[in-house]
Amino acid sequence: MRINKFLAENGIASRRHADTMISAGRIKINGVIASLGANVEEGDEVLLDDQPIVVTEKKEEYYLMNKPKGVVCTVSDDRGRKTVMDLLPENVGRVFPVGRLDYATEGLLILTNDGDLAYRLTHPMTEIPKTYMARIEGTLTEKDLNPIRSGVELDGVLTKKCKAHIVETNKAYTKVHITITEGRNRQVRRMFEAIGRNVEFLKRISIGQLKLSGLDRGQIRPLSAEEIAYLKGI
Ligand code: URA
Repeated sequence: MRINKFLAENGIASRRHADTMISAGRIKINGVIASLGANVEEGDEVLLDDQPIVVTEKKEEYYLMNKPKGVVCTVSDDRGRKTVMDLLPENVGRVFPVGRLDYATEGLLILTNDGDLAYRLTHPMTEIPKTYMARIEGTLTEKDLNPIRSGVELDGVLTKKCKAHIVETNKAYTKVHITITEGRNRQVRRMFEAIGRNVEFLKRISIGQLKLSGLDRGQIRPLSAEEIAYLKGI
């Protein structure tokens, strides 16, 4: 880890102020005055003004949110729209959303400050199944879903095989549960567009074994120890 990041994470100074301290020769790594851009590794002794820096344990936080529609899944929005960060209660630390849900999509969203876990969960190799409830305009049959199941072309690349089944259908709409293992941009909406159908409502109801049930729109709850262990084991 870069020395300025190390100093910032251990509450010594902001990264910029840390650079000033380093330039002034106040920081030593294993007895040697640190240069700007030097790296710190586990077990290194870091001194500020010849006093050892105590490494603070970073408290990892994990939450599950029922994201409402009309909220952006970013830490800050350049168009000034409401973000998921605006929905966090005050006692929640600096967490960030894992992956994205569209502005108009609601449902299960994980928030954490565990960068390693976020990286693994969103990595294409991880292929974690994510299930959505999609309400499609008009009537659909199971057969209509076949192209969705076997793969449709988005931006010249076929979507991976997925599971989809109808949970309710009538003249006005059809509700489909669809489980995908990828995370391409607006994937579910575009998969239905590819078969000429319009998704009028979309909600993520599960990520792997994590379920949305029991959380009202806009609500957030900490993940249980079992849920955290499950995610770390993926
Ligand atoms: N698919 C979509 O179309 N939108 C989302 O937010 C997630 C999956």
